[in-house]
Amino acid sequence: MALLMRCTHQGTELQVFGDKLQCPAHGSKFANNGDVTNGPASSGLRTFPIVIDNQQLKVSLK
Ligand code: FES
Repeated sequence: MALLMRCTHQGTELQVFGDKLQCPAHGSKFANNGDVTNGPASSGLRTFPIVIDNQQLKVSLK
């Protein structure tokens, strides 16, 4: 399963650069914890709880 990460400004799909995310539309940047580090986006990315269970990474989408 793949999760698309979309910018909180106008919904453009984000690009990954190392451990950071960048929006190609208007230049917003996000840290690996979802916090905005550069606008115009004004709110951070949605985050999801994760657990490692018996060597499997599980992401809660609730
Ligand atoms: S849609 Fe991402 S910065 Fe505008």
